[in-house]
Amino acid sequence: MPGSTSPGTIRNPDGWWRGASIYQVYLRSFADGNGDGTGDLAGLRARLPYLSELGVDAIWLNPWYPSPMADGGYDVADYRNIEPVFGTLAEAEKLIEEAHDLGIRTIVDVVPNHGSDQMVWFQEALEAGPGSEARERFWFRPGNGDGPPNGWKSIFGGPAWTQVPDGEWYLHLFAPEQPDFNWNNPAVREEFLDVLRFWFDRGVDGIRIDSAAVLVKDLDSVEESYTDHDGVHEIYREWRRIADDYGQRVLIGEVWLPDQERFALYLRPDEMHTAFNFAFLASPWEPDALRDVIDMTLATHVPIGAPATWVLSNHDVTRPATRFGRADTSFDHGDRKHGMPSDFELGTRRARAAALLAMALPGSVYVYQGEELGLWEVEDIPDDLREDPIWARSGHTDPGRDGCRVPLPWSGGEPPFGFSTGVPWLPQPAGWSTMTVEDQLADPESMLSLYRAALGIRRERLGDGVMAWLPLGDGVLAFTRDSGLICVVNLGSQPVRLPPHESILLTSGPLDGDLLPTDTTAWLSS
Ligand code: NOJ
Repeated sequence: MPGSTSPGTIRNPDGWWRGASIYQVYLRSFADGNGDGTGDLAGLRARLPYLSELGVDAIWLNPWYPSPMADGGYDVADYRNIEPVFGTLAEAEKLIEEAHDLGIRTIVDVVPNHGSDQMVWFQEALEAGPGSEARERFWFRPGNGDGPPNGWKSIFGGPAWTQVPDGEWYLHLFAPEQPDFNWNNPAVREEFLDVLRFWFDRGVDGIRIDSAAVLVKDLDSVEESYTDHDGVHEIYREWRRIADDYGQRVLIGEVWLPDQERFALYLRPDEMHTAFNFAFLASPWEPDALRDVIDMTLATHVPIGAPATWVLSNHDVTRPATRFGRADTSFDHGDRKHGMPSDFELGTRRARAAALLAMALPGSVYVYQGEELGLWEVEDIPDDLREDPIWARSGHTDPGRDGCRVPLPWSGGEPPFGFSTGVPWLPQPAGWSTMTVEDQLADPESMLSLYRAALGIRRERLGDGVMAWLPLGDGVLAFTRDSGLICVVNLGSQPVRLPPHESILLTSGPLDGDLLPTDTTAWLSS
Protein backbone atom coordinates (compact mmCIF):
# COMPACT_ATOMS: atom_id res chain seq x y z
CA MET A 1 0.00 0.00 0.00
CA PRO A 2 2.78 2.52 0.50
CA GLY A 3 3.26 2.57 -3.26
CA SER A 4 -0.34 3.60 -3.88
CA THR A 5 -0.15 6.85 -1.99
CA SER A 6 1.00 10.14 -3.38
CA PRO A 7 3.94 11.88 -1.75
CA GLY A 8 3.19 14.66 0.68
CA THR A 9 3.97 15.81 4.12
CA ILE A 10 1.89 14.91 7.13
CA ARG A 11 0.58 18.15 8.40
CA ASN A 12 -0.37 18.35 12.04
CA PRO A 13 1.44 15.13 12.89
CA ASP A 14 0.41 15.71 16.45
CA GLY A 15 -3.19 16.43 15.61
CA TRP A 16 -5.49 16.11 18.60
CA TRP A 17 -7.66 13.56 16.80
CA ARG A 18 -4.93 10.96 16.44
CA GLY A 19 -5.59 9.34 19.78
CA ALA A 20 -8.89 10.99 20.70
CA SER A 21 -11.91 9.39 22.36
CA ILE A 22 -14.89 10.73 20.44
CA TYR A 23 -18.47 10.48 21.69
CA GLN A 24 -21.24 10.40 19.11
CA VAL A 25 -24.27 12.46 20.06
CA TYR A 26 -27.49 11.52 18.29
CA LEU A 27 -29.10 14.77 19.33
CA ARG A 28 -32.74 13.71 18.93
CA SER A 29 -32.23 11.02 21.54
CA PHE A 30 -29.62 12.41 23.90
CA ALA A 31 -31.51 14.74 26.27
CA ASP A 32 -34.58 16.91 25.82
CA GLY A 33 -34.36 20.38 27.35
CA ASN A 34 -37.81 21.72 26.48
CA GLY A 35 -40.16 18.79 27.08
CA ASP A 36 -41.30 18.23 23.48
CA GLY A 37 -40.04 14.65 23.47
CA THR A 38 -37.10 15.28 21.12
CA GLY A 39 -33.54 15.81 22.30
CA ASP A 40 -32.08 19.25 21.71
CA LEU A 41 -29.16 21.61 22.27
CA ALA A 42 -30.48 22.78 25.62
CA GLY A 43 -30.54 19.16 26.79
CA LEU A 44 -27.05 18.51 25.50
CA ARG A 45 -25.63 21.67 27.06
CA ALA A 46 -27.09 20.71 30.40
CA ARG A 47 -25.40 17.30 30.17
CA LEU A 48 -21.96 18.44 29.08
CA PRO A 49 -20.58 17.76 32.58
CA TYR A 50 -21.68 14.13 32.13
CA LEU A 51 -19.53 13.90 28.99
CA SER A 52 -16.64 15.65 30.65
CA GLU A 53 -16.74 13.19 33.55
CA LEU A 54 -17.05 10.30 31.13
CA GLY A 55 -13.65 11.38 29.83
CA VAL A 56 -14.15 12.07 26.14
CA ASP A 57 -12.08 14.48 24.07
CA ALA A 58 -14.67 15.39 21.47
CA ILE A 59 -18.30 15.03 20.50
CA TRP A 60 -19.56 14.32 17.01
CA LEU A 61 -23.13 15.47 16.43
CA ASN A 62 -25.32 13.91 13.77
CA PRO A 63 -26.87 16.54 11.45
CA TRP A 64 -28.42 19.36 13.43
CA TYR A 65 -29.62 21.45 10.51
CA PRO A 66 -33.19 22.42 9.57
CA SER A 67 -34.66 19.23 8.17
CA PRO A 68 -38.04 17.66 7.46
CA MET A 69 -36.49 14.54 9.13
CA ALA A 70 -37.28 12.19 6.28
CA ASP A 71 -33.99 10.48 7.20
CA GLY A 72 -33.34 11.58 10.75
CA GLY A 73 -31.77 14.89 9.67
CA TYR A 74 -29.64 13.46 6.82
CA ASP A 75 -32.08 15.32 4.59
CA VAL A 76 -30.63 18.79 5.12
CA ALA A 77 -32.74 21.79 4.11
CA ASP A 78 -30.26 24.51 5.14
CA TYR A 79 -26.59 23.80 5.82
CA ARG A 80 -26.01 27.06 7.68
CA ASN A 81 -28.62 26.91 10.40
CA ILE A 82 -30.01 24.77 13.19
CA GLU A 83 -33.21 22.74 13.15
CA PRO A 84 -35.69 24.75 15.29
CA VAL A 85 -36.70 21.59 17.17
CA PHE A 86 -33.06 21.36 18.30
CA GLY A 87 -32.59 25.07 19.07
CA THR A 88 -30.92 28.05 17.44
CA LEU A 89 -27.63 28.92 15.83
CA ALA A 90 -26.81 31.05 18.86
CA GLU A 91 -27.29 28.00 21.09
CA ALA A 92 -25.06 25.94 18.83
CA GLU A 93 -22.35 28.57 19.17
CA LYS A 94 -22.77 28.50 22.93
CA LEU A 95 -22.53 24.73 22.94
CA ILE A 96 -19.25 24.84 21.00
CA GLU A 97 -17.88 27.38 23.45
CA GLU A 98 -19.06 25.60 26.60
CA ALA A 99 -17.72 22.30 25.33
CA HIS A 100 -14.36 23.94 24.66
CA ASP A 101 -14.35 25.32 28.19
CA LEU A 102 -14.59 21.70 29.38
CA GLY A 103 -11.84 20.59 27.01
CA ILE A 104 -14.29 18.92 24.63
CA ARG A 105 -14.03 19.54 20.91
CA THR A 106 -17.01 19.57 18.55
CA ILE A 107 -17.35 17.74 15.25
CA VAL A 108 -20.33 18.37 12.98
CA ASP A 109 -21.80 16.16 10.30
CA VAL A 110 -21.76 17.53 6.74
CA VAL A 111 -23.87 15.73 4.14
CA PRO A 112 -22.46 16.47 0.68
CA ASN A 113 -24.04 13.72 -1.39
CA HIS A 114 -27.61 14.89 -1.11
CA GLY A 115 -29.80 17.60 0.36
CA SER A 116 -33.50 17.75 1.10
CA ASP A 117 -36.33 18.14 -1.39
CA GLN A 118 -37.42 21.06 0.81
CA MET A 119 -34.19 23.03 0.37
CA VAL A 120 -34.30 26.27 -1.61
CA TRP A 121 -32.07 24.88 -4.35
CA PHE A 122 -34.38 21.96 -5.02
CA GLN A 123 -37.51 24.07 -4.96
CA GLU A 124 -35.83 26.44 -7.43
CA ALA A 125 -34.95 23.47 -9.62
CA LEU A 126 -38.54 22.26 -9.66
CA GLU A 127 -39.76 25.73 -10.51
CA ALA A 128 -37.15 26.47 -13.19
CA GLY A 129 -37.91 23.37 -15.24
CA PRO A 130 -35.90 21.17 -17.62
CA GLY A 131 -32.65 22.52 -19.01
CA SER A 132 -32.31 25.21 -16.33
CA GLU A 133 -29.19 26.04 -14.38
CA ALA A 134 -31.08 25.31 -11.18
CA ARG A 135 -31.59 21.70 -12.30
CA GLU A 136 -27.88 21.36 -13.02
CA ARG A 137 -27.18 21.36 -9.29
CA PHE A 138 -28.91 17.97 -9.10
CA TRP A 139 -29.24 15.01 -11.43
CA PHE A 140 -32.38 15.64 -13.49
CA ARG A 141 -32.86 13.53 -16.59
CA PRO A 142 -35.63 12.65 -19.05
CA GLY A 143 -37.02 9.16 -18.59
CA ASN A 144 -36.24 6.13 -20.67
CA GLY A 145 -39.61 5.49 -22.31
CA ASP A 146 -42.13 5.47 -19.49
CA GLY A 147 -39.56 4.48 -16.90
CA PRO A 148 -36.65 6.09 -15.10
CA PRO A 149 -33.42 7.01 -16.94
CA ASN A 150 -31.71 3.85 -15.72
CA GLY A 151 -32.32 0.93 -13.39
CA TRP A 152 -30.33 2.13 -10.39
CA LYS A 153 -31.77 1.19 -7.02
CA SER A 154 -31.88 3.31 -3.88
CA ILE A 155 -29.70 2.17 -0.99
CA PHE A 156 -32.85 2.37 1.15
CA GLY A 157 -34.80 0.16 -1.27
CA GLY A 158 -36.94 0.92 -4.33
CA PRO A 159 -35.84 2.87 -7.40
CA ALA A 160 -33.16 5.59 -7.14
CA TRP A 161 -35.22 7.91 -9.39
CA THR A 162 -38.39 9.88 -8.76
CA GLN A 163 -40.40 11.63 -11.44
CA VAL A 164 -41.49 15.28 -11.11
CA PRO A 165 -44.71 16.67 -12.64
CA ASP A 166 -43.06 17.97 -15.83
CA GLY A 167 -41.91 14.43 -16.62
CA GLU A 168 -38.19 14.60 -15.71
CA TRP A 169 -36.70 12.33 -13.10
CA TYR A 170 -34.16 13.13 -10.38
CA LEU A 171 -31.63 10.83 -8.78
CA HIS A 172 -31.62 9.98 -5.07
CA LEU A 173 -29.31 7.26 -3.83
CA PHE A 174 -31.22 7.33 -0.55
CA ALA A 175 -34.86 8.43 0.04
CA PRO A 176 -36.80 10.46 -2.58
CA GLU A 177 -36.71 13.35 -0.10
CA GLN A 178 -32.88 13.35 -0.46
CA PRO A 179 -32.02 14.51 -4.02
CA ASP A 180 -28.37 13.91 -4.96
CA PHE A 181 -26.17 16.87 -5.83
CA ASN A 182 -24.31 17.03 -9.12
CA TRP A 183 -20.67 17.33 -8.10
CA ASN A 184 -19.63 18.05 -11.69
CA ASN A 185 -21.16 21.46 -11.14
CA PRO A 186 -18.71 24.07 -9.76
CA ALA A 187 -21.59 25.78 -7.94
CA VAL A 188 -22.04 22.67 -5.79
CA ARG A 189 -18.31 22.56 -5.00
CA GLU A 190 -18.24 26.24 -4.06
CA GLU A 191 -21.31 25.89 -1.90
CA PHE A 192 -19.76 23.18 0.25
CA LEU A 193 -16.44 24.97 0.60
CA ASP A 194 -18.42 27.85 1.98
CA VAL A 195 -20.38 25.55 4.31
CA LEU A 196 -17.08 24.26 5.72
CA ARG A 197 -15.85 27.80 6.31
CA PHE A 198 -19.14 28.70 7.93
CA TRP A 199 -18.76 26.01 10.60
CA PHE A 200 -15.02 26.39 11.05
CA ASP A 201 -15.64 30.11 11.60
CA ARG A 202 -18.00 29.09 14.41
CA GLY A 203 -15.29 27.12 16.11
CA VAL A 204 -16.05 23.54 15.18
CA ASP A 205 -13.01 21.30 15.34
CA GLY A 206 -13.93 18.76 12.76
CA ILE A 207 -16.26 17.58 10.04
CA ARG A 208 -17.70 14.10 9.69
CA ILE A 209 -18.30 13.57 5.99
CA ASP A 210 -21.45 11.60 5.26
CA SER A 211 -21.52 8.98 2.48
CA ALA A 212 -18.13 10.26 1.44
CA ALA A 213 -17.35 7.75 -1.31
CA VAL A 214 -20.48 8.14 -3.47
CA LEU A 215 -20.43 11.77 -4.61
CA VAL A 216 -19.25 11.19 -8.18
CA LYS A 217 -21.51 9.28 -10.56
CA ASP A 218 -21.43 7.82 -14.04
CA LEU A 219 -25.05 7.97 -15.12
CA ASP A 220 -24.37 6.37 -18.49
CA SER A 221 -23.50 3.14 -16.81
CA VAL A 222 -26.25 0.52 -16.79
CA GLU A 223 -24.90 -0.90 -13.56
CA GLU A 224 -24.98 1.29 -10.49
CA SER A 225 -21.83 3.33 -10.80
CA TYR A 226 -21.37 5.74 -7.97
CA THR A 227 -19.07 4.14 -5.42
CA ASP A 228 -15.49 5.29 -5.17
CA HIS A 229 -14.93 7.07 -8.47
CA ASP A 230 -11.47 8.62 -8.70
CA GLY A 231 -13.01 12.06 -9.14
CA VAL A 232 -14.04 12.16 -5.51
CA HIS A 233 -10.48 12.74 -4.33
CA GLU A 234 -10.17 16.18 -5.87
CA ILE A 235 -13.16 17.24 -3.76
CA TYR A 236 -11.49 16.18 -0.51
CA ARG A 237 -8.19 17.76 -1.49
CA GLU A 238 -10.00 21.07 -1.72
CA TRP A 239 -11.67 20.43 1.64
CA ARG A 240 -8.33 19.60 3.19
CA ARG A 241 -6.85 22.87 2.03
CA ILE A 242 -9.60 24.70 3.91
CA ALA A 243 -9.17 22.57 7.04
CA ASP A 244 -5.44 23.25 6.94
CA ASP A 245 -6.00 26.98 6.56
CA TYR A 246 -7.84 26.93 9.86
CA GLY A 247 -5.43 24.49 11.53
CA GLN A 248 -6.13 21.63 13.94
CA ARG A 249 -9.45 20.82 12.21
CA VAL A 250 -10.13 17.23 11.31
CA LEU A 251 -11.92 15.66 8.34
CA ILE A 252 -13.41 12.26 9.16
CA GLY A 253 -14.78 10.17 6.34
CA GLU A 254 -17.70 7.82 6.31
CA VAL A 255 -16.11 5.53 3.73
CA TRP A 256 -17.56 2.02 3.51
CA LEU A 257 -15.12 0.29 1.15
CA PRO A 258 -13.97 -3.28 1.54
CA ASP A 259 -10.92 -2.71 -0.67
CA GLN A 260 -8.21 -1.42 1.67
CA GLU A 261 -6.02 -0.03 -1.09
CA ARG A 262 -8.88 2.09 -2.34
CA PHE A 263 -9.82 3.04 1.23
CA ALA A 264 -6.27 4.21 1.92
CA LEU A 265 -6.47 6.69 -0.95
CA TYR A 266 -8.93 8.77 1.08
CA LEU A 267 -6.36 9.08 3.85
CA ARG A 268 -3.50 10.43 1.81
CA PRO A 269 -1.73 13.31 3.51
CA ASP A 270 -3.62 15.89 1.50
CA GLU A 271 -7.10 14.38 1.91
CA MET A 272 -9.03 13.29 4.98
CA HIS A 273 -7.32 12.85 8.32
CA THR A 274 -9.17 9.71 9.38
CA ALA A 275 -12.09 7.50 8.43
CA PHE A 276 -14.36 5.17 10.36
CA ASN A 277 -13.22 1.58 10.67
CA PHE A 278 -16.31 -0.29 9.52
CA ALA A 279 -14.43 -3.54 9.01
CA PHE A 280 -13.76 -3.62 12.76
CA LEU A 281 -17.35 -2.65 13.54
CA ALA A 282 -18.72 -5.44 11.36
CA SER A 283 -16.34 -8.14 12.59
CA PRO A 284 -17.79 -11.15 14.37
CA TRP A 285 -16.68 -11.78 17.94
CA GLU A 286 -14.10 -14.35 16.89
CA PRO A 287 -10.37 -14.25 17.60
CA ASP A 288 -9.08 -14.89 14.09
CA ALA A 289 -11.48 -12.49 12.44
CA LEU A 290 -10.65 -9.75 14.94
CA ARG A 291 -6.92 -10.32 14.71
CA ASP A 292 -7.12 -10.16 10.91
CA VAL A 293 -9.09 -6.97 10.93
CA ILE A 294 -6.70 -5.34 13.39
CA ASP A 295 -3.69 -6.39 11.32
CA MET A 296 -5.37 -5.22 8.14
CA THR A 297 -6.27 -1.89 9.70
CA LEU A 298 -2.75 -1.21 10.88
CA ALA A 299 -1.26 -2.37 7.57
CA THR A 300 -3.47 0.17 5.84
CA HIS A 301 -2.88 3.09 8.18
CA VAL A 302 0.68 2.85 9.45
CA PRO A 303 2.47 3.25 6.10
CA ILE A 304 0.53 6.41 5.26
CA GLY A 305 0.80 7.90 8.72
CA ALA A 306 -2.97 8.12 9.24
CA PRO A 307 -4.35 7.18 12.65
CA ALA A 308 -6.59 4.12 12.76
CA THR A 309 -10.07 4.40 14.24
CA TRP A 310 -11.90 1.81 16.33
CA VAL A 311 -15.67 1.78 16.21
CA LEU A 312 -18.10 -0.68 17.78
CA SER A 313 -21.37 1.05 17.05
CA ASN A 314 -23.16 4.07 15.63
CA HIS A 315 -26.67 5.25 14.78
CA ASP A 316 -26.89 2.94 11.77
CA VAL A 317 -26.00 -0.41 13.32
CA THR A 318 -27.29 -2.93 15.84
CA ARG A 319 -26.34 -2.24 19.47
CA PRO A 320 -23.30 -4.37 20.48
CA ALA A 321 -24.92 -5.87 23.59
CA THR A 322 -27.58 -7.40 21.31
CA ARG A 323 -25.31 -8.26 18.40
CA PHE A 324 -22.68 -10.03 20.50
CA GLY A 325 -25.33 -12.16 22.19
CA ARG A 326 -26.48 -13.75 18.93
CA ALA A 327 -25.35 -16.96 17.30
CA ASP A 328 -24.07 -14.81 14.41
CA THR A 329 -22.18 -11.85 15.87
CA SER A 330 -21.19 -10.13 12.64
CA PHE A 331 -22.91 -6.98 11.41
CA ASP A 332 -24.23 -6.66 7.88
CA HIS A 333 -26.37 -3.79 6.56
CA GLY A 334 -28.02 -6.14 4.10
CA ASP A 335 -29.13 -8.50 6.87
CA ARG A 336 -29.59 -6.82 10.22
CA LYS A 337 -30.69 -10.08 11.86
CA HIS A 338 -33.58 -8.26 13.44
CA GLY A 339 -35.31 -10.57 15.88
CA MET A 340 -32.57 -13.22 15.86
CA PRO A 341 -32.50 -14.48 19.46
CA SER A 342 -29.89 -12.80 21.60
CA ASP A 343 -28.52 -13.75 25.03
CA PHE A 344 -28.25 -10.30 26.59
CA GLU A 345 -26.03 -11.44 29.45
CA LEU A 346 -23.56 -13.00 27.04
CA GLY A 347 -23.82 -10.01 24.71
CA THR A 348 -23.10 -7.65 27.58
CA ARG A 349 -20.08 -9.62 28.75
CA ARG A 350 -18.66 -9.53 25.24
CA ALA A 351 -19.57 -5.87 24.72
CA ARG A 352 -17.58 -5.05 27.87
CA ALA A 353 -14.62 -7.07 26.64
CA ALA A 354 -14.89 -5.51 23.19
CA ALA A 355 -14.91 -1.99 24.65
CA LEU A 356 -11.59 -2.60 26.41
CA LEU A 357 -10.18 -4.11 23.23
CA ALA A 358 -11.23 -1.14 21.09
CA MET A 359 -9.96 1.39 23.60
CA ALA A 360 -6.55 -0.26 23.91
CA LEU A 361 -5.76 -0.25 20.19
CA PRO A 362 -3.62 2.53 18.69
CA GLY A 363 -5.61 5.36 17.16
CA SER A 364 -8.85 7.12 18.00
CA VAL A 365 -11.95 5.47 19.39
CA TYR A 366 -15.64 6.27 18.94
CA VAL A 367 -18.36 5.72 21.53
CA TYR A 368 -21.95 5.97 20.32
CA GLN A 369 -24.33 7.34 22.94
CA GLY A 370 -25.89 4.56 24.97
CA GLU A 371 -23.00 2.20 24.21
CA GLU A 372 -21.49 3.34 27.51
CA LEU A 373 -24.74 2.24 29.19
CA GLY A 374 -24.77 -1.13 27.45
CA LEU A 375 -28.23 -0.49 25.99
CA TRP A 376 -29.80 -3.20 23.92
CA GLU A 377 -31.28 -2.85 20.45
CA VAL A 378 -34.97 -2.09 20.88
CA GLU A 379 -36.64 -4.53 18.53
CA ASP A 380 -40.25 -4.22 19.64
CA ILE A 381 -41.00 -0.64 18.58
CA PRO A 382 -44.62 -0.62 17.37
CA ASP A 383 -44.68 -0.53 13.57
CA ASP A 384 -46.73 2.66 13.42
CA LEU A 385 -44.07 4.52 15.43
CA ARG A 386 -41.13 3.50 13.27
CA GLU A 387 -39.46 6.46 11.56
CA ASP A 388 -36.54 5.05 9.63
CA PRO A 389 -37.28 5.36 5.87
CA ILE A 390 -35.77 1.89 5.41
CA TRP A 391 -38.90 0.43 7.01
CA ALA A 392 -41.29 1.83 4.40
CA ARG A 393 -38.92 1.54 1.46
CA SER A 394 -38.17 -2.11 2.15
CA GLY A 395 -41.89 -2.83 1.93
CA HIS A 396 -42.00 -3.27 5.69
CA THR A 397 -39.54 -6.13 5.63
CA ASP A 398 -36.55 -4.39 7.22
CA PRO A 399 -37.34 -2.40 10.39
CA GLY A 400 -34.16 -0.40 9.89
CA ARG A 401 -32.26 1.57 12.46
CA ASP A 402 -34.76 2.97 14.96
CA GLY A 403 -33.84 0.29 17.49
CA CYS A 404 -30.43 1.85 18.17
CA ARG A 405 -31.80 5.40 18.26
CA VAL A 406 -34.17 5.19 21.21
CA PRO A 407 -33.81 8.10 23.69
CA LEU A 408 -31.34 7.58 26.52
CA PRO A 409 -32.46 6.62 30.03
CA TRP A 410 -31.02 9.14 32.48
CA SER A 411 -32.81 8.55 35.76
CA GLY A 412 -35.89 7.25 37.51
CA GLY A 413 -37.79 3.98 37.39
CA GLU A 414 -39.98 4.41 34.34
CA PRO A 415 -40.11 6.10 30.91
CA PRO A 416 -39.22 8.81 30.01
CA PHE A 417 -36.35 8.12 32.45
CA GLY A 418 -35.37 11.77 32.80
CA PHE A 419 -34.83 12.10 29.05
CA SER A 420 -37.75 14.52 28.75
CA THR A 421 -40.73 15.78 30.65
CA GLY A 422 -42.84 14.87 27.64
CA VAL A 423 -43.34 11.74 25.56
CA PRO A 424 -40.10 10.57 23.87
CA TRP A 425 -40.25 10.47 20.06
CA LEU A 426 -39.53 6.73 20.21
CA PRO A 427 -40.76 4.67 23.15
CA GLN A 428 -38.20 3.46 25.69
CA PRO A 429 -38.41 -0.08 27.08
CA ALA A 430 -39.65 -0.31 30.67
CA GLY A 431 -36.73 -2.69 31.26
CA TRP A 432 -34.27 0.18 31.02
CA SER A 433 -35.15 1.07 34.62
CA THR A 434 -31.95 -0.69 35.69
CA MET A 435 -29.86 0.85 32.90
CA THR A 436 -30.18 4.54 33.71
CA VAL A 437 -27.19 6.82 34.09
CA GLU A 438 -28.28 7.48 37.67
CA ASP A 439 -28.32 3.78 38.51
CA GLN A 440 -25.08 3.00 36.75
CA LEU A 441 -23.17 5.84 38.37
CA ALA A 442 -23.98 4.28 41.72
CA ASP A 443 -22.74 0.85 40.66
CA PRO A 444 -18.98 0.34 40.35
CA GLU A 445 -19.61 -2.80 38.28
CA SER A 446 -21.85 -1.10 35.72
CA MET A 447 -21.04 -0.61 32.05
CA LEU A 448 -20.88 3.13 32.64
CA SER A 449 -18.34 2.71 35.43
CA LEU A 450 -16.27 0.49 33.14
CA TYR A 451 -16.32 3.10 30.35
CA ARG A 452 -15.41 5.90 32.75
CA ALA A 453 -12.50 3.95 34.19
CA ALA A 454 -11.30 2.84 30.76
CA LEU A 455 -11.53 6.27 29.18
CA GLY A 456 -9.62 7.68 32.15
CA ILE A 457 -6.77 5.19 31.77
CA ARG A 458 -6.84 5.69 28.02
CA ARG A 459 -6.39 9.41 28.43
CA GLU A 460 -3.35 8.82 30.65
CA ARG A 461 -1.56 6.15 28.70
CA LEU A 462 -3.28 5.05 25.49
CA GLY A 463 -4.24 6.70 22.23
CA ASP A 464 -2.18 6.72 19.08
CA GLY A 465 1.17 4.89 18.97
CA VAL A 466 2.25 1.33 18.35
CA MET A 467 1.29 -2.15 19.52
CA ALA A 468 2.93 -5.56 19.33
CA TRP A 469 1.14 -8.91 19.54
CA LEU A 470 1.99 -11.25 22.40
CA PRO A 471 1.62 -14.92 21.49
CA LEU A 472 -0.62 -16.33 24.22
CA GLY A 473 -2.22 -19.13 22.24
CA ASP A 474 -5.33 -19.78 20.18
CA GLY A 475 -8.38 -17.86 21.15
CA VAL A 476 -6.46 -15.14 22.95
CA LEU A 477 -5.74 -11.69 21.59
CA ALA A 478 -2.95 -10.11 23.57
CA PHE A 479 -0.75 -7.15 22.79
CA THR A 480 1.50 -4.64 24.44
CA ARG A 481 1.26 -0.92 23.91
CA ASP A 482 4.13 1.54 23.81
CA SER A 483 2.96 2.93 27.15
CA GLY A 484 3.64 -0.39 28.86
CA LEU A 485 0.00 -1.44 28.98
CA ILE A 486 -0.80 -5.05 28.12
CA CYS A 487 -4.26 -5.88 26.80
CA VAL A 488 -5.41 -9.51 26.96
CA VAL A 489 -8.76 -10.58 25.47
CA ASN A 490 -9.92 -14.14 26.00
CA LEU A 491 -12.12 -15.22 23.10
CA GLY A 492 -11.47 -18.93 23.66
CA SER A 493 -13.60 -21.42 25.51
CA GLN A 494 -11.22 -21.93 28.48
CA PRO A 495 -9.92 -19.51 31.12
CA VAL A 496 -6.33 -18.43 30.42
CA ARG A 497 -3.40 -17.48 32.62
CA LEU A 498 -2.43 -13.83 32.52
CA PRO A 499 1.06 -13.01 31.23
CA PRO A 500 3.62 -11.64 33.73
CA HIS A 501 2.65 -8.16 34.86
CA GLU A 502 3.19 -5.65 37.60
CA SER A 503 -0.42 -4.76 38.30
CA ILE A 504 -3.93 -5.20 37.01
CA LEU A 505 -5.31 -1.87 35.83
CA LEU A 506 -8.81 -2.89 34.81
CA THR A 507 -10.81 -5.93 33.77
CA SER A 508 -14.08 -6.13 31.90
CA GLY A 509 -15.37 -8.77 34.31
CA PRO A 510 -14.30 -10.70 37.40
CA LEU A 511 -11.16 -12.85 37.23
CA ASP A 512 -11.22 -16.49 38.22
CA GLY A 513 -8.30 -16.47 40.66
CA ASP A 514 -5.44 -15.47 38.40
CA LEU A 515 -7.20 -16.78 35.33
CA LEU A 516 -8.95 -14.64 32.73
CA PRO A 517 -12.38 -16.12 31.94
CA THR A 518 -13.88 -16.47 28.48
CA ASP A 519 -15.17 -13.25 26.89
CA THR A 520 -13.21 -11.08 29.29
CA THR A 521 -10.49 -8.48 28.74
CA ALA A 522 -7.79 -7.41 31.17
CA TRP A 523 -5.59 -4.33 31.07
CA LEU A 524 -2.29 -4.93 32.81
CA SER A 525 0.67 -2.77 33.61
CA SER A 526 3.94 -4.42 32.65
C1 NOJ B 1 -24.99 7.59 6.40
C2 NOJ B 1 -25.63 8.01 7.67
O1 NOJ B 1 -24.87 7.54 8.76
C3 NOJ B 1 -27.02 7.44 7.66
O2 NOJ B 1 -27.67 7.58 8.88
C4 NOJ B 1 -27.79 8.12 6.54
O3 NOJ B 1 -29.08 7.54 6.43
C5 NOJ B 1 -27.08 7.96 5.20
N1 NOJ B 1 -25.67 8.22 5.30
C6 NOJ B 1 -27.64 8.92 4.19
O4 NOJ B 1 -27.30 10.23 4.52
